[in-house]
Amino acid sequence: MKISVVGVGYVGLVAAGCLAGGGNHVICIDKDKKRIDELNNGQIPIYEQGLAEVIKHNEQAGRLMFTTDLKYGIQNSLVIILAVGTPSAQDGSADISAVLSVAGEIARHMRDYKIIITKSTVPVGTYKKVSELMAGKTSQPFDYVSNPEFLKEGSAVDDFLKPDRVIVGTDSPKAMELIRQLYAPFMRKSSRMIFMDPASAEMTKYAANTMLATRISFMNELSALCEKFGADIEKVRVGIGSDSRIGNAFLFPGVGFGGSCFPKDIRALIYMGQQQGCTMTIPQAVQAANYAQQDRFAQRVIDYFGGEHEQKRLCVWGLAFKARTDDVRESPAIRCVEKLLEAGIKITAYDPEAMPAALEKLDGRIDTADDAYKALEGADGLVILTDWQEFRAPDFELILSKLNRPVIFDGRNLYNSKYVQMQGLEYYSIGRADIQGKSKL
Ligand SMILES: NC(=O)c1ccc[n+]([C@@H]2O[C@H](COP(=O)([O-])OP(=O)(O)OC[C@H]3O[C@@H](n4cnc5c(N)ncnc54)[C@H](O)[C@@H]3O)[C@@H](O)[C@H]2O)c1
Repeated sequence: MKISVVGVGYVGLVAAGCLAGGGNHVICIDKDKKRIDELNNGQIPIYEQGLAEVIKHNEQAGRLMFTTDLKYGIQNSLVIILAVGTPSAQDGSADISAVLSVAGEIARHMRDYKIIITKSTVPVGTYKKVSELMAGKTSQPFDYVSNPEFLKEGSAVDDFLKPDRVIVGTDSPKAMELIRQLYAPFMRKSSRMIFMDPASAEMTKYAANTMLATRISFMNELSALCEKFGADIEKVRVGIGSDSRIGNAFLFPGVGFGGSCFPKDIRALIYMGQQQGCTMTIPQAVQAANYAQQDRFAQRVIDYFGGEHEQKRLCVWGLAFKARTDDVRESPAIRCVEKLLEAGIKITAYDPEAMPAALEKLDGRIDTADDAYKALEGADGLVILTDWQEFRAPDFELILSKLNRPVIFDGRNLYNSKYVQMQGLEYYSIGRADIQGKSKL
């Protein structure tokens, strides 16, 4: 098939690479000229495991091209996939101006039938807005399909190649058939396609993200209560996760959730509720619990050092919103670092992939090191904010030898409390009693 993907970020670039890998010809379009130039020069603008290989291989095979020319893409493809950003607007709603603008351009330039597939996360009812907008601008036939994306940053290529399910929102039999063909290479064992109307498909995406975030916030709120009682949230997690009705996923307590999706999608769901006169009490609570958890962790670190913050420097391990990505959008690590900086504490940070993005986000107000252990030099403690694999089994002796003050604040519960304390380090984690059986964080 001839496909255009509009918006080549975390979703669009992965989709484009994987669809090209299935034998399709894919035109990647983005308004960001710098991004397109980078791609044309063989550079991959985002970090995602396996993506560079997929892009390089398919470009060399002549199945991928990169351009800012939207008209060219529209006129040279049957399928047009929208993967542009839908960030939060001031009022919390999802800003769909990029989706509407591209839809308008498609209507303006199309000369024959097109199928428009929206992978961007868009508020319920967007299918109607887009269809009406396009119908007002063109007499050419088209189908609009809501096809929300469920890939996860950190395993996006794998998720796209082996999706748990593909949600397809359309009433058009022709579009259903085309979508079946499009996804056929990724459905070899069994079809995991679920067809529904576009409004339900749009809602499914918000429901999924908010449900997952709800589990995290619930565990984070419980972690505070565990600390009061001297209970261990990790034992509670295993205890409830073994119930097959509950399962283990998304029950890990930590410094709160972040990223480019959960926070903005929850805000958008709350806004949709407000617009329709249905108060979204659970999403509101999930959001409030998340900010409370992020601030609680930062505050405990600040309180630990009393009033002498100006003389303190902390080492931070992890700036990305989660492991295996360079994405720092709404990262709890960035929010925590901001709070520590506000208190006057100086920061030396290390992250395997996210340092350039974090430095930009923080206007260069932190120092960085190109190695986790170098970042510890001269620091008065270590704060762990992202659960990168390389932080999971560190050399505690080396940590001890480098720190001015032997203390670890672990926002991801990476270690066994007793073991770390036996190494001679003070250790504070989330929702767990310390070695004396007294809760600290
Ligand atoms: N990142 C994820 O893990 C993820 C997962 C599922 C769904 N989504 C959703 O997918 C959408 C894209 O997310 P992302 O993380 O890939 O965003 P992103 O910011 O990484 O990429 C969006 C791209 O769209 C481009 N763009 C914006 N307006 C454009 C326009 N008018 N014309 C052409 N290009 C334009 C931007 O330059 C950018 O390169 C969002 O709606 C998001 O909610 C994201």
